[in-house]
Amino acid sequence: MTKESEITKKGILISFEGSEGCGKSTQIRRIADRLEAIDHCDVVVTREPGGTEIGEEVRHLLMHSTANSAMHPETELLLFAASRAQLVRELIVPSVKAGKMVLCDRFLDSTTVYQGVARQIAEDPLTQINDFAVGDIVPDLTVVVDVPAEIGLERIKHRISDMPDRMEQENVSFYAKVREGYLILARSLPDRFLVVDGTKAPHEVENEIWQEIHARFF
Ligand SMILES: Nc1ncnc2c1ncn2[C@@H]1O[C@H](COP(=O)(O)OP(=O)(O)O)[C@@H](O)[C@H]1O
Ligand SMILES: [Mg+2]
Repeated sequence: MTKESEITKKGILISFEGSEGCGKSTQIRRIADRLEAIDHCDVVVTREPGGTEIGEEVRHLLMHSTANSAMHPETELLLFAASRAQLVRELIVPSVKAGKMVLCDRFLDSTTVYQGVARQIAEDPLTQINDFAVGDIVPDLTVVVDVPAEIGLERIKHRISDMPDRMEQENVSFYAKVREGYLILARSLPDRFLVVDGTKAPHEVENEIWQEIHARFF
């Protein structure tokens, strides 16, 4: 146990964003470990799509089902939103209300970027569907782990051959658009976003994220 001051009583929602292979899961594990070492700090780690029983079934449909090569972008958008709607109500809101620290591997910005920028769904319905799914919860902090498309793809090469995840099978130009989408979004909402250089060593990335979390919430 460290001698950190007690976590504030209100819970906190931190989302982690960035293209596949940028290091989200790595950083969430590291940050969760650091938070768990603090007295009175309850940590909940979850992911999107998924995080609930219903959400995990939707995740399977979106990411691994053999049927999904026929999926339309609109269907994809609504399935992501369905998983998110369930996660918010079943896990995130109750956890935040109970004063917990929630770390979410992807959240609403993934939809804005992937379905908006990369798949070019119009902004209006996308925003409305996002708003409907999340209600009034907004992350207290969103960490974008930023890496060039080639680096992210290189890191997940083995995943692509191991499993038929549609998102991971997209090409370099798709990933470059996703990266740019996150950077544009982060620039437009500087108070909520922290962009970290994901090409640095994992412990350096972790330290940068930790400094921000510490400064904001402790
Ligand atoms: N900062 C880093 N430098 C080098 N390799 C990393 C770094 N962070 C993560 N990795 C490696 O890259 C791969 C993808 O990381 P992961 O955390 O799973 O990314 P994501 O969850 O964003 O897809 C893993 O093999 C991981 O060990
Ligand atoms: Mg991951």
